[in-house]
Amino acid sequence: MTLGGVSTRADHGAHDPFGSPAEQGGRAIEHDLPGAVTADLADYLAGRRAECADIAEEYAGAVDDLTRFVLAGGKRLRPTFAWWGWRAAGGLDDPSAVLRAVSALELIQACALVHDDLIDDSATRRGEPTVHARWASRHAGAAWTGDPTRFGAAVAILLGDVALAWADDMLHESGVDPVALARARPAWQAMRTEVLGGQFLDVQGHASSDSSPETALRISRYKTAAYTVERPLHLGAAIAGADDTTIAALRRYGTDLGIAFQLRDDMLGVFGDPAVTGKPAGDDLREGKLTLLVALTRAHPDRTTAAVVERAVGNPHLDAEGVAAAREALVSLGVVDDVERRITELTASALDAVRGADAPVLAVPAPDRLADLAVAATRRAR
Ligand code: IPE
Ligand code: IPE
Ligand code: MG
Ligand code: MG
Repeated sequence: MTLGGVSTRADHGAHDPFGSPAEQGGRAIEHDLPGAVTADLADYLAGRRAECADIAEEYAGAVDDLTRFVLAGGKRLRPTFAWWGWRAAGGLDDPSAVLRAVSALELIQACALVHDDLIDDSATRRGEPTVHARWASRHAGAAWTGDPTRFGAAVAILLGDVALAWADDMLHESGVDPVALARARPAWQAMRTEVLGGQFLDVQGHASSDSSPETALRISRYKTAAYTVERPLHLGAAIAGADDTTIAALRRYGTDLGIAFQLRDDMLGVFGDPAVTGKPAGDDLREGKLTLLVALTRAHPDRTTAAVVERAVGNPHLDAEGVAAAREALVSLGVVDDVERRITELTASALDAVRGADAPVLAVPAPDRLADLAVAATRRAR
């Protein structure tokens, strides 16, 4: 079919078995989406090096460290969700610009992780020393003047800020049409406010006397679900010009799955293998983080077994034996089963939002990919 001599998208599909050039470009990206995101980030970050070197070669060297962190690891979940939000809402045109826009989410992630590791005083991330730890040992090794710990913290704050600033630049220079970018702005803005609010609630959760399961779930929603699944999907769908019903369904999937993702992270934080997660085991306990595991323990009537977990929570000297005892107590209290059940239920309700009887029609193959992603996000070892 043609309209005024302009062939429509359906027309491309009907006459060209390989689809339009845009569809072919999209398929090439989807062949290895995480790889395409990494390649795009490498290209973007290489393009920004010279302006740092103009300021000082040492600054460019520090930014190289950030670049290595961004490129070296990560599951690339946030760009992946944003991409499938775009595709679910019928996005097909200009896939390279959309790839660049969604890849900017990995710079938000870099900021979140570098600052989170500083806040949580974590020693490793993605199997390597964390940014603040690395710069503190560099300072100590070079016998520079001042306190190595403070120096490491200062560099981590600054490199996290560079990532946050460049995320914004990367999105706005992506080449996505300005009208589509304007549609995406509310999702991008809300995402940043929400993750910072969630991190605030997380640190306040250590200090506050409110340790209810509702508070723990609220923290998970804002510190993780919003910037990991819900808003990336919203962002992608808004770029494609999705209607309100489609955005609402994707956001419901995103909130439920995002919370389930954080609950899995909490489980891995206590039971995971550091060689696989790339993060230390037992740190959540040592740090006194208000996870759902801890909140359910506090609400449990068996105070004797709960006391074993309480001895571990917030104990900076917690050793492997103490972690093992806390694990055993969490299992015997039934708290582990409870969290597993909630992960299963949240995953099911997420899938219902995009594949259930009342779900809006989403463009294929997005519903299947969202189903695959629900499994990948919640049944993972890293
Ligand atoms: C880690 O996120 C931080 C959380 C929100 C739990 P990911 O598990 O997605 O980390 P990477 O990007 O794959 O390293
Ligand atoms: C996850 O924080 C949320 C952000 C990084 C914004 P956590 O402290 O719970 O995550 P991990 O376990 O260190 O990755
Ligand atoms: Mg942390
Ligand atoms: Mg944290």
